[in-house]
Amino acid sequence: MLRPLLVLTVVWGAAQTTRAAAPPLMPLPVKVETAPGKLAVDGSFSVAATGYTDLRLESALNRFAARVSRQTGIPMLAARPPDASRATLRVECAGVPSGPGAEGPSLGEDESYRLDVAPDGARLKAATVAGALHGLETFAQLVVAAAEGFHVPAIHIEDSPRFPWRGLMLDVSRHWMPVEVVERNLDAMAAVKLNVFHWHLSDDQGFRAESRRFPRLQQLGSDGSFYTQADLRHVVAYARDRGIRVVPEFDIPGHTNSWLVGYPELASAPGPYSIGRTWGVYDGAMDPTREETYEFLDAFLGEMTQLFPDPYFHIGGDEVNGRQWGQSSSIQAFAKEHNLDGTRGLQVYFNQRIQKLLRKYGKIMVGWDEVLHPDLPADTVVQSWRGQASLAEAASKGYRGILSAGYYLDHLSPASYHYGIDPLADAAQKLTPEEASRILGGEACMWAEYANAETVDSRIWPRAAAIAERLWSPKEVADVDSMYERMEAVSRVLEWTGVEHRANYGPMLDRLAAGRLAEPLRVLADACEAQGLGPRSRAMKYSSLVPLNRFVDAARPESESVRALEQAASKVDIAQLREQFTRWAGNDARFQPLAKDNALLAELKPLSQDLSALGSAGLRILTYLESRRPAPKAWLSQQAKELARMLKPRNEVVLAAVRPVKLLLDDLARRRNR
Ligand code: ACM
Repeated sequence: MLRPLLVLTVVWGAAQTTRAAAPPLMPLPVKVETAPGKLAVDGSFSVAATGYTDLRLESALNRFAARVSRQTGIPMLAARPPDASRATLRVECAGVPSGPGAEGPSLGEDESYRLDVAPDGARLKAATVAGALHGLETFAQLVVAAAEGFHVPAIHIEDSPRFPWRGLMLDVSRHWMPVEVVERNLDAMAAVKLNVFHWHLSDDQGFRAESRRFPRLQQLGSDGSFYTQADLRHVVAYARDRGIRVVPEFDIPGHTNSWLVGYPELASAPGPYSIGRTWGVYDGAMDPTREETYEFLDAFLGEMTQLFPDPYFHIGGDEVNGRQWGQSSSIQAFAKEHNLDGTRGLQVYFNQRIQKLLRKYGKIMVGWDEVLHPDLPADTVVQSWRGQASLAEAASKGYRGILSAGYYLDHLSPASYHYGIDPLADAAQKLTPEEASRILGGEACMWAEYANAETVDSRIWPRAAAIAERLWSPKEVADVDSMYERMEAVSRVLEWTGVEHRANYGPMLDRLAAGRLAEPLRVLADACEAQGLGPRSRAMKYSSLVPLNRFVDAARPESESVRALEQAASKVDIAQLREQFTRWAGNDARFQPLAKDNALLAELKPLSQDLSALGSAGLRILTYLESRRPAPKAWLSQQAKELARMLKPRNEVVLAAVRPVKLLLDDLARRRNR
C-alpha cells in the first residue's frame, strides 16, 4: 500500500516548495504521488504482460527491456519470464481496440495509463496498448542512479493527454533524411508521448517518395534520395509499433517544382523545371484548370493513400504565390467563367477537387491554414502556421484544427518560448467549449533548410519535449524553471532512444578542429547559441549545396551551461561563476592556435576574443561584488556598451555567455546607485 508523502497534482508546476521533489518526467503526468521507498532496477529486473497481449505489446516490452539495459548498462531480461505474474514490472493491458476497425494508433483513442511503483514491484494498467506504451516510457524516465544503484522511486501516477493530436512534422525535402533519421526520431517522439509523425514528403527541393505510377517524380525530382515503397511501409509499421500515426504530406499545388521536373505538363507555365536549390517560394504551381491535372492526382493519390493507413492525409496548400496563374490567359479565362475570385478562388476550387479525390480513397484532408475557406468540407483539418488567429477562426467555423504557429523548431527559439504557446490561448480563449473542442492539439515543425541528417536531431531535441509537454500535460503545468530542469534530465534519457542530438556535438567539433584537440572550441561552442531560419537566410546566400559543417551547425539552439550560469548569477554563486569566468578568460589563448590555418575556424577569432574579454570582465565584477567596493562609473558604462555590442549576433550565432555577465553588471550598477 502506497502512503502518499506529497501529493503533486496539476498545481504542482506553480508550487515552488514541492518542485525539488518532482521526478524528472516530461511530459509531467496529470497526477503524481510520491511515497517512501524505491524499487531496485538491477539484473533481476523483468517486465511482462499479465493481461491482454499482442505482437505490438510484446515487441514494446522487448524494446523496453533493451532500452532500460542501455540506460543502466545492466543486461536485463526481455519479456516473458517463466512466471509473468512474478515480473518486477507487470503490465495489465485490457486490450481495448484503438478505434473502430483500427489495428494501429488512431486519433482520439484512450491513451491513459496508471503506474504504481512500490519497493516490491510495479504495476502498469492501461485500457489500450497505446496507454501501456506511454506508461512504459514514463517508467523508463523514472529510472535514476543513486548511491545504492539504479532504482525507480515509489510512486503513483495517473495520466492521460490534454490533446489527442501531438505531432512532429519533419521536412525531408530541403535536406534528405534517410530512414534511420526518421526511425530514431520516432523513438524519441514515443519517449515524450508525441503520437503523430507528419512527414513532409515533397517540396520544391525534393520529391522523396517512390511512385510506381509516376516514377519520374522520384527519378528526376529527388537527386536519387527518396524512400522506396518498402521504406514507406516500414516507417508506418515502425511508427505504429510505437503508438505513432503517420500523416503524409504531399504539398500541392504550390511548392511543387520537384514534381514539375519530370511532369512539366502539370504546371501552369511551360517548363523546363529544375529541382529547387535555394529556399523561399517558387512560382511553379500545378494548373488547377486542366482535367489532366486531376486525372494525374487521382491516380497518384490512389497509389499513395494505399501506403498510409491513417485516415488523415495532408495536401499542404501553403504559399501559392499565384504568379503563374495570374500570367496565364487560359487560367484567368477559366477563373472568370467559373466565377472564381483570383488566386484564392482558384486554390479553393483546386482544394475542393482534391478533397473529393481523397474522400473517394477514404481520407480526410488536412491542409495548412491557407486552405481555410467557407466552402471547405466540414471534416477538413486546418493546420495553423501563420498565427493562432486562424486556428480560432477555423474552430469557430466548424473545422477542426491543430496549432503549429509558435512551434517552429527551425527558428531555434528557446524552449521557454514554445512552452508558452498554448493551443487554447490567444484568440481561442473566446471560443465556446464546443468550438474549443475542435482544437485537436498541435505539431512541432522541423523545416530542413538549415538542418541535415547530421544536425537535425539537435534542432529537434530536447526542445520538442517542451512542446510535447504543452500538448500532453494540464495547462496549469507552466513553470518554466521546472520545465528546464526536467527537460535537461529528459534530454539525457532521450539519448538512450538512439537520437543523436547530444551525440553529434563532439564529432562535429572534432571535425572543425581538424585533428587538433577540440576542447577550446567546445568552450566557445558551449558559450554560443545557433541562430535559426530568419537570421541565417539573411546572413549569406544559402542553397541545398552549401555544406552545414560550420560552427553554427554544431552550436546548440540553447546553451545548458549558460543557463546554469544565469542561475548562478541570479544567486551570486561566486565559486561557480569564478570557475567559468576563469575558463573563458583563458580560452582565447588556447583557441587562436586551433584557428590558425583552419578555414572553418578563422571566422571565429573575434568571437573567441570576446568570450575571453567577457571572462575577464566577469572576474572583475566578482571582485567588486566580493569586496563590496563600488565599481567606477566610467568602467560600468564602458562595460555595458561592450556587452551590448557582444550581444549582436555574428557568425550566425549569439554569444549567449553575455547574459549572465550582464545580470551581474546590472546588479553591480544597481548597488552603486543605491
Ligand atoms: C509553411 O511554413 N509554409 C507551412
